[in-house]
Amino acid sequence: MKNIVVLAVLFPALILSISNGSSFVARADDDDADDEIVDVEGEADENAITEEGGEDDEAQPRASPDADTTILFTRPVVSGTSGNLELPAGNLVEFLVGFTNKGSQDFVLETLEASFRYPMDFSFYIQNFSTIAYDRVVKPKHEATLAYSFIPAEAFAGRPFGLNINLSYRDLAGNVFQEAVYNETVQIVELEEGLDGETFFLYVFMAACVVLMLVVGQQFLYSLGRKRVGKKPVIETGTSNPNDVDYDWLPKETLNHINKKVFRSAVHGQETGKEICRTVTVKNPLGIRVTYCKGAEGQEIQFKYQ
Ligand SMILES: *[C@@H]1O[C@H](CO)[C@@H](O)[C@H](O)[C@H]1NC(C)=O
Ligand SMILES: *[C@@H]1O[C@H](CO)[C@@H](O)[C@H](O)[C@H]1NC(C)=O
Ligand SMILES: *[C@@H]1O[C@H](CO)[C@@H](O)[C@H](O)[C@H]1NC(C)=O
Repeated sequence: MKNIVVLAVLFPALILSISNGSSFVARADDDDADDEIVDVEGEADENAITEEGGEDDEAQPRASPDADTTILFTRPVVSGTSGNLELPAGNLVEFLVGFTNKGSQDFVLETLEASFRYPMDFSFYIQNFSTIAYDRVVKPKHEATLAYSFIPAEAFAGRPFGLNINLSYRDLAGNVFQEAVYNETVQIVELEEGLDGETFFLYVFMAACVVLMLVVGQQFLYSLGRKRVGKKPVIETGTSNPNDVDYDWLPKETLNHINKKVFRSAVHGQETGKEICRTVTVKNPLGIRVTYCKGAEGQEIQFKYQ
């Protein structure tokens, strides 16, 4: 009979200790096994209340004046101290917390925890990362380094968060200390990974633009070349004239007029040495007088416009 009562009392106590954390284990075990179940629960509740009250009374534990802490982000590597710390979303963030015991008694480093807070109000929790228990004893004039790592969720990319890194430790007298090793706004950034789809298509688009420009440029050059080639016959008709003179700049009608006139116009002969200089004067619509001389063998000697 007594065994059954003991079991009945222990069973809920066990559940209680599992669900409420290890702090109740000792108390539940201490309870008189002969007590009623209701009494056990009542006592547990009282204990919880007094515990909470005790924490409230302590208010916020401060950092010990005998302790120095430093923080060093080892991943990502932070260069300089200006501006917000930028943490890549979805990637591991690692940091080291250095602790120096300047006092004359041991400290026990208990836990380290990181949390994201709402940047406008640091009392609003967005995400708690694991609380890691170290239980490292740091003797006077000694130092210790704690490592911690977490991964900001990818969904947080592009948003600022208040990052609070909280170290709690105690001295041998049982005083609990707590220090915000890091308490600043950080920016979660998207990590540009090698070649994502967007960049890939940007490159493809740029390559297409370059190819298009090359094709257009080649077409343009080709058409220019064709124009020059197309012009040549005009020049050739020009050179086909017996005087080897570029008539190109003259309008076509004028040219025809000149050609007719040259053969019809009066020719005045004049002997200069072996050469006969015949002055051919053409009066074209532009009022230009065209003169040329022919040698004795009929070769051109001179041709000028006046
Ligand atoms: C984070 O932990 C704190 C206590 O350290 C607690 O008050 C808060 O509710 C927790 N927030 C979330 C989102 O878990
Ligand atoms: C720091 O950690 C301690 C122990 O986990 C906790 O009681 C306290 O509320 C934390 N403080 C902040 C500012 O997160
Ligand atoms: C952390 O920083 C915020 C904003 O600067 C401030 O309101 C808060 O009191 C700080 N908390 C600690 C524990 O230093």
